[in-house]
Amino acid sequence: MLSLFNKLKMSMNVGKEIILAKYFGKIVSISIKVFITNKCNLNCSYCYPIINKGIRKFGRNMSKEELFQLFDELAKLGNEGGSSSGRGTIDERRFGEIVDYVKSKDILCEAITNGYYVADKIDEVDKLNSICISIDGNEEETDYYRGRGCYKKAMEAIKLCSERGIPTRLHSVITRINKDSLNALEIAKEYGAGITVSPIITNEYCGIKYDPEICLSRDETKELFERLLEYKLNGYPINFSCNTLKYFIDYPFEDYDEVIKKGDSRLKRLSGRKSKIPLCKRMYLSPEMEADGTIYPCATLMHAPNSPNVREMGLMESLVGLKDMECATCGSITDQELNSLLNMNLNTVREVVKYFFTSVR
Ligand SMILES: C[S@@+](CC[C@H](N)C(=O)[O-])C[C@H]1O[C@@H](n2cnc3c(N)ncnc32)[C@H](O)[C@@H]1O
Ligand code: SF4
Repeated sequence: MLSLFNKLKMSMNVGKEIILAKYFGKIVSISIKVFITNKCNLNCSYCYPIINKGIRKFGRNMSKEELFQLFDELAKLGNEGGSSSGRGTIDERRFGEIVDYVKSKDILCEAITNGYYVADKIDEVDKLNSICISIDGNEEETDYYRGRGCYKKAMEAIKLCSERGIPTRLHSVITRINKDSLNALEIAKEYGAGITVSPIITNEYCGIKYDPEICLSRDETKELFERLLEYKLNGYPINFSCNTLKYFIDYPFEDYDEVIKKGDSRLKRLSGRKSKIPLCKRMYLSPEMEADGTIYPCATLMHAPNSPNVREMGLMESLVGLKDMECATCGSITDQELNSLLNMNLNTVREVVKYFFTSVR
């Protein structure tokens, strides 16, 4: 449990690191999502980590020692938050040791899970600062793409974490199946959890094609954001700021899936708009790392060929490699919310600070 003093200290450190990065070009790292394993007990049909399609050959998983060394280096770079993701995450045998090590470095630790094994590993889960549980809606909606039995396991985990007072966020992928009901919002409200949602991240940038039947059209995506804003204003615990939701309702580009590259003429043309285009700051500030050490700025760019690898290049050189990525902005709401924080948007900073002080232990 973090004391008020520690929360204040962490918030000020994050602010300081963002300013150093923004105005002085310093390489820092605010948060990282680490896939601690390549294995998963499920095979969700939309899963972006497994939809690699042979673009890149996975190396072996980072060893425990390599991961610990990475956390040592990240702590020195000012890293304050880490989420342990992964195809399996909690059933991974090293899960407890990794959580202990991350926390010993004063790095906030969240695990993202499909809900399986939460009950079996509840003592380790209890040490997390927060947990994120994936659930797409009611039983039919959740099991449609994630597989039979997933809803029940996710609900068991949500109930258990709620009973134990473990700060919980739900994450829901929105497809044609659940876009009209948004049932997961009701579950979040009932169990006092926060919720983030995302339309399918398509990895189009890396040449990967998703089944268009799963993905929302532009109009459906816009409508989703309009409804989310309405729900948020009606008190639903949606962890996106109004500011970010409004930007996505009035999204200035044709296609939410397009990654806009640096130097694109549209960026200049649209720069005078009231709601400014948030230029991507994620890059090295909050990357995602696969279990074999390959590192990407975000989920959208996962599987991009020639991405740096921490095991081969070391952390610093890999982060510098991310800084030079050619992308400028994109239409992924989860990434832009984080980006908006890294761009020090006051509305977002206020909401994130409120969430941190009230919902993270
Ligand atoms: C990659 S998973 C890893 C953690 C864990 N296996 C799970 O499913 O919760 C992290 C989150 O990404 C979501 N996700 C997977 N593929 C996605 C995609 N193509 N677009 C958007 N979200 C996706 C999952 O539903 C989950 O909430
Ligand atoms: S449970 Fe998570 S990692 Fe596993 S297949 Fe589903 S989305 Fe992917």
